[in-house]
Amino acid sequence: MAGDNYAPMHRRSLDEPEAYWAERAGDLVWTRRWDKVLDDARKPFYRWFRGGEINTCFNALDRHVDAGHGDRIALIYDSPVTGGTIRRFTYRDLRDEVARFAGVLRAQGVGKGDRVIVYMPMVPEAAIAMLACARLGAVHSVVFGGFAANELAVRIDDCQPKAIVSASCGIETTRIIPYKPLLDAAINIARHKPGRCIILQRPQQVCALTPGRDIDWAEAMKTAAPAACVPVAATDPLYILYTSGTTGQPKGVVRDNGGHAVALKASMSVLYDMKPGEVFWAASDVGWVVGHSYIVYAPLLQGCTTLLYEGKPVGTPDAGAFWRVASQHKVKALFTAPTAFRAIKREDPEGALVKRYDLGAFKALFLAGERCDPDTLHWAQRILGVPVVDHWWQTETGHAITGNPVGVHSYPLKAGSTTKPMPGWDVQALGADGHPVKPGEIGAICCRLPLPPGTFPTLWNAEERFFKAYLEEYPGWYKTGDAGMVDADGYVHIMTRVDDVINVAGHRLSTGQMEEVLASHPAVAECAVVGVGDELKGQVPLGFVVLKAGVKTADSEIVADLVKMVRERIGPVAFFKQAIVVPRLPKTRSGKILRGTMQKIADSEAWKMPATIDDPAILEEIQAALQPLGYAKADSRSAPS
Ligand code: COA
Ligand code: AMP
Repeated sequence: MAGDNYAPMHRRSLDEPEAYWAERAGDLVWTRRWDKVLDDARKPFYRWFRGGEINTCFNALDRHVDAGHGDRIALIYDSPVTGGTIRRFTYRDLRDEVARFAGVLRAQGVGKGDRVIVYMPMVPEAAIAMLACARLGAVHSVVFGGFAANELAVRIDDCQPKAIVSASCGIETTRIIPYKPLLDAAINIARHKPGRCIILQRPQQVCALTPGRDIDWAEAMKTAAPAACVPVAATDPLYILYTSGTTGQPKGVVRDNGGHAVALKASMSVLYDMKPGEVFWAASDVGWVVGHSYIVYAPLLQGCTTLLYEGKPVGTPDAGAFWRVASQHKVKALFTAPTAFRAIKREDPEGALVKRYDLGAFKALFLAGERCDPDTLHWAQRILGVPVVDHWWQTETGHAITGNPVGVHSYPLKAGSTTKPMPGWDVQALGADGHPVKPGEIGAICCRLPLPPGTFPTLWNAEERFFKAYLEEYPGWYKTGDAGMVDADGYVHIMTRVDDVINVAGHRLSTGQMEEVLASHPAVAECAVVGVGDELKGQVPLGFVVLKAGVKTADSEIVADLVKMVRERIGPVAFFKQAIVVPRLPKTRSGKILRGTMQKIADSEAWKMPATIDDPAILEEIQAALQPLGYAKADSRSAPS
């Protein structure tokens, strides 16, 4: 394309990856320069900046203070759910708070390589705890507050933390969510017992501390000595973030220090067009990868002001909340999930509330986390009048795989596409033979190895699972788990997951994990969970259960039990609210449950009677059972395949 500044940059990132990333790494402070930019001695396992030593917290905070920017605002906490609290931390303030909390952790015996679980609501102390771990070279593992005790316990057992940092409560719109009982229950369930819990008491609901185990955040801070930054190997882990896999055992995505800092800082210029001092707002949660990368690390590495928002797009207090925050804090770029915009659109379809605020500083909207429907994209463009960038990435990758690199060159928008591969990414749709299909044809979206810096080098204590889940099927490629196409202009279109991962309100969940919960009910013989379309949340889970012979309990009672069980074992975030009892499940003759066909029937999408089905009549029964719930409105069956 004539005048395309980005294409040569992208080409170079693939042709000369070591030179390209070494230049980006030069923007950071290293305590020891790397020996090798890309270590490929153990293909297909690659490591970036081997031999280098760095401290991520130093680069996020101290570096800016040392450069004379200590008075610049690093973090703004805006919390409508606590009556409109606003707190601003300069880079100096934040460095000092982080250093002191690192001192608290150190006094509890936390050091380099030790794991620390952070189970907190959206308060600045969550970011402070993460950065304090980074300061000590300890490895944080943040667990999203909407997960149940059992999920927290699974993570405790997997990463074996020395300490847990938590809070007395979270606030969901107006509801107080006590965190302490969940924490206690999780520690009770877990086999591994962390030695210490550091609890932030929130005035909305204080909790009783467990003597001998819990310490009070504020008390400990009063006497703590600030801790200095501990240099770590570039390849040492910075954090573990668990994400849904295909089973009840979540995958512990590992992020290293060096490659992560390099890639995240670079993304702020190339993709988000953010300069030091400008205000960036990722309206997500620190419990998700978006929160790790774009609430905490990337904006601070770039010297920007980051916004930490404890509220919702609607209901805190209204659908104008995002515009109020953006206007009040002079936000330049907002990053959120399309579901947040669908929620706003539902309450304020004409965007009337936008007009109440001065959005003069606001320059771009970034959407990710789930497929963005063209309606929502166009609506956002119309009411905001700024470029909207749909970009695609995953917990595993830590930063965008594809997007519109507006900091370098803005490509024309194509609704339904997440535009072009970002630096270091070679993205192709592969066919069953493992070769790229023709442009415009659908295939398994894969990325050529090595992946760029900042992606996951492995899964925590599970290298074989890492290999099998991502690298084995297409040798030389990373299998993303998404299907889609690359069109003739090189634009990437992400269509759907190919596994049993679903996306509910931008939250990634495993239907396999929900099936494990349903199957444990004593009355359930067999079950399946599929993700069905939802106007607000994109997808929601729907369960199908077959009861054991002789079960006398009413179906409605069993369904109510199942809903409660998923909430208790996985958490409210799973949003499992509906299930139906069916006489049988549709299967192939070899016994594979036809989940894809059930989902299409429920969504009234075109479907074909699978040639391998053992008994075609079952699908009609399923269709009839779904209709009273408002699904399967039309019979869109076509000829048998
Ligand atoms: N702690 C405790 N409970 C939580 C929680 C937390 N941190 N986060 C969510 N929950 C609960 C909710 O209260 C809700 O409970 P309920 O079923 O009792 O009402 C349930 O988990 C489902 O949450 P969610 O799917 O987020 O629904 P919601 O109705 O509360 O909000 C949206 C819907 C669209 C407003 C919200 O999901 C949203 O803003 N999403 C976009 C932003 C985002 O988080 N993106 C992530 C990646 S960018
Ligand atoms: P998570 O790991 O929670 O970030 O979820 C990653 C998954 O969300 C991806 O594999 C995709 O299925 C989906 N996803 C994320 N961003 C997009 C996007 N912009 N368009 C389509 N799907 C997306």
